[in-house]
Amino acid sequence: MTHPIERPRRLRATPALRALVRETTVRPEQLVAPLFLTPGSDRKKPITSMPGHAQLSVDLAVAEARALAALGVRSFLLFGVPDHKDEEGSGAWDPAGPVATGIKALKDSLPDCIVMADVCVDEYTSHGHCGVLHTRRDGVIDVDNDATVERLARIATVYAAAGADVIAPSDMMDGRVGAIRWRLDAEGFSHAVILSYAVKYASAFYGPFREAADCAPKFGDRAAYQMDPANAREALRELRLDIAEGADMVMVKPALAYLDVIAKVRAATELPLAAYNVSGEYAMLHAAAQNGWIDLHRTVKEVLTSIVRAGADIVITYHARDVAEALGWR
Ligand code: PBG
Repeated sequence: MTHPIERPRRLRATPALRALVRETTVRPEQLVAPLFLTPGSDRKKPITSMPGHAQLSVDLAVAEARALAALGVRSFLLFGVPDHKDEEGSGAWDPAGPVATGIKALKDSLPDCIVMADVCVDEYTSHGHCGVLHTRRDGVIDVDNDATVERLARIATVYAAAGADVIAPSDMMDGRVGAIRWRLDAEGFSHAVILSYAVKYASAFYGPFREAADCAPKFGDRAAYQMDPANAREALRELRLDIAEGADMVMVKPALAYLDVIAKVRAATELPLAAYNVSGEYAMLHAAAQNGWIDLHRTVKEVLTSIVRAGADIVITYHARDVAEALGWR
């Protein structure tokens, strides 16, 4: 009868031993909480597919941000849900729109927080696509890349002027990081950080977000600009381009079905890496927990830990409150 030479179980015997050798922890400061902003005041419209979340007017969003800051979560990613949309998405660069006014209100009431602004026109266009449309010379209707990039740069300057710390383009147009960087620098915003949605897949996990931000495309899909879920080498190409164009931080989105991509991107860059734990990933856990099929707090903790373990420094997540409860931050 021989004894095993190695007994990994020894280090798992008690909570204190497990804590001593734990390799990954999730900190509140590395989480970013998305907020959906509407015009007006005292306005709250619950998002049915994302229990616990709502479209909020700026005053209520500031109150929500204060509650999150009390848990240690002090970074926010803002999306706008305008009352009116048009072909071009012109509401996106309105300095009186909910995002620009929300940026200012958040920085005024929580000066130490980090305000990130998602830059894209899909919440503002009547057709729901992430850019302006044109009919190509061969007759195909497509998003006009270069005309869209021009507008994205304009939106970025409006958000930077309102006081945004971080500009986060999510559209997947080619060349937009370079164009935004150039315009920000030229207009006196060389300090504004760019977090590029560098590696963003055409994912069905964005389903609930399209209700949250009212931005489902009215025809077709986003496969002609967002990445094919089958491709991982291409992620490194997108990464290389955005770094060359001046991105300060990069993102992989979604997170859970793409943990391998997070790990690959982690190995390929020394820049801070964000992962977006998207709306569908949030909705799945809540739906299963509501049915009593899984334990919400334990699964949320496991999911967030796995994203950090894969290599993300920053996690954009709707689970900020859930994880605070799960990890006892309050
Ligand atoms: C586009 C944008 C989307 C998300 C963030 N920015 C939607 C899309 O690309 O269709 C999805 C976020 C989520 O699902 O949580 N502006």
